[in-house]
Amino acid sequence: MNVRDSEVISGLLDKARYKLTEDEAKADIIIYNTCSVRQHAEEKVWSEIGRVSKCQSVKVSGEKIIGIVGCMANNYREAIFEKAPAVDFVVGTADIGKLPGILKEIEKHKGGMLEKKIYETDADFREDEIYHTGFHLDKEHAFVVISEGCENFCSYCVVPYVRGKLRSRDYKDIRKEIKGDIDAGITKVTLLGQNVNAYKYEDVNFVGLIDLVNSVKGLKEFSFVTSHPKDTSIELFKAMADADKLKKYLHLPIQSGSDRILKAMNRGYTRKFYLELVDKYRTIVPNGALTTDIIVGFPGERDMDFQDTFDLVKDVEFDAGFIFKYSIRPHTQALRIPDDVPKEEKERRHALILELQKKISRKKNAKNS
Ligand code: 5AD
Ligand code: SF4
Repeated sequence: MNVRDSEVISGLLDKARYKLTEDEAKADIIIYNTCSVRQHAEEKVWSEIGRVSKCQSVKVSGEKIIGIVGCMANNYREAIFEKAPAVDFVVGTADIGKLPGILKEIEKHKGGMLEKKIYETDADFREDEIYHTGFHLDKEHAFVVISEGCENFCSYCVVPYVRGKLRSRDYKDIRKEIKGDIDAGITKVTLLGQNVNAYKYEDVNFVGLIDLVNSVKGLKEFSFVTSHPKDTSIELFKAMADADKLKKYLHLPIQSGSDRILKAMNRGYTRKFYLELVDKYRTIVPNGALTTDIIVGFPGERDMDFQDTFDLVKDVEFDAGFIFKYSIRPHTQALRIPDDVPKEEKERRHALILELQKKISRKKNAKNS
C-alpha cells in the first residue's frame, strides 16, 4: 500500500512539473512517505531525517525543505516537529492528493521564514483522480488500490488509527484505472487493500470485483493482497478457481496459532477455523500458493502459545511466511497490556519460526522445480 502511495505522490508531483531525483544532494525538497505498522519502520525514518539534517553535503534545514507524509503524520502530528525539528511540513494519508498545492504554497516562502505546518491530517477521503496519473515503477505491473483504511481493530495494529475507516473505491473507477494502465503497456495488476475480502461498492462485493477485473480486455494476470481469514469464504476460493487470469496465490495472515493469543489480538477467528479454511482453499484451488504473516512475542504469549504457532507453521507448510517481533504501537488496545515477553525471547522465537519456515520453503521450492 505504501509503495502504491509513493507512486501516487510521484505521479502527482511529476504532473505538477516537479522533477524527481534519487540524488539527495540535488533535491530541494525531501518527502518521506512513511509506514507506522512496526516500530522498526518508524525508527528508520527518524534516523534518516537525523542523518539528512546533519549531513554536510546537504543544505541546513530551512533551505532544503523536509516533509513527512503518510502514516507517521497521522500517528504523531505536532509531536513530529519536536522530535525532528528539521521537518517543515506534515501531510496525512488521506491528503496526499493535496501535495502539489501544498508545495506551491511552501515555495512562495522559499528563502524566507517557513512556518511549520500540518496539512489536514484528519481528512478521510481521497479523490479517485489521484490514482490516475499513470505513474508506475514497473513497466508491466501495476498496483491498484481497491479499498482504503480498515475497521478491524486488531489489538496490536495502528492501521485503523492512521488510515481511517474502510472505504471501497467505485468498481467503475477501478476498471477505468486498469484499462488506462493496459493502454500504457501494463499487463499484470495487483489489487490492494488492508482487507480485500471486505470490499463492497453498491452491489459489487470482492467476488464480483474478481469477475469484473478478470473480464478486462488486454489484462494478462492479476492477484490481490491482503485477505483477512474471518472474511475469507468458499465463494472466494471458487471465484479464484474460476477466474482464468487470477494468479492462484493467497496471502492469509494467521498472526498466531494460539486461540488465547488470537482472542487477545481481536482477530475474530480460531486456530480450527483457520486450518479448515486452508483445507478448503487447497481443495478448491489445487496447487494454490499460500503465504502468511506471524507476530511472535505478543503480550502474554507463553511458551505453549508459541508452540501452538510453531506446530501450525509446521503442519500447514506455507510457501512463505513473514515473521515479525511484536512492537508496541501508539493508540492500540494492546498498548494497555504489559509488553512482557523479553526482547531476547522475542528474538529466539522469531529465529525459530524463521528457520522452520526457511526449511519448509526450501523443501517446497525443490519439489516445484
Ligand atoms: N508488531 C509487530 N508486527 C505487527 N504487524 C502489525 N502490527 C504489528 C506490531 N504492532 C504485522 C502483522 C501484519 C503485518 C503487515 O505487520 O503481521 O499482518
Ligand atoms: Fe491491521 Fe488487522 Fe486491519 Fe490488518 S486487518 S490492517 S492487522 S487492523
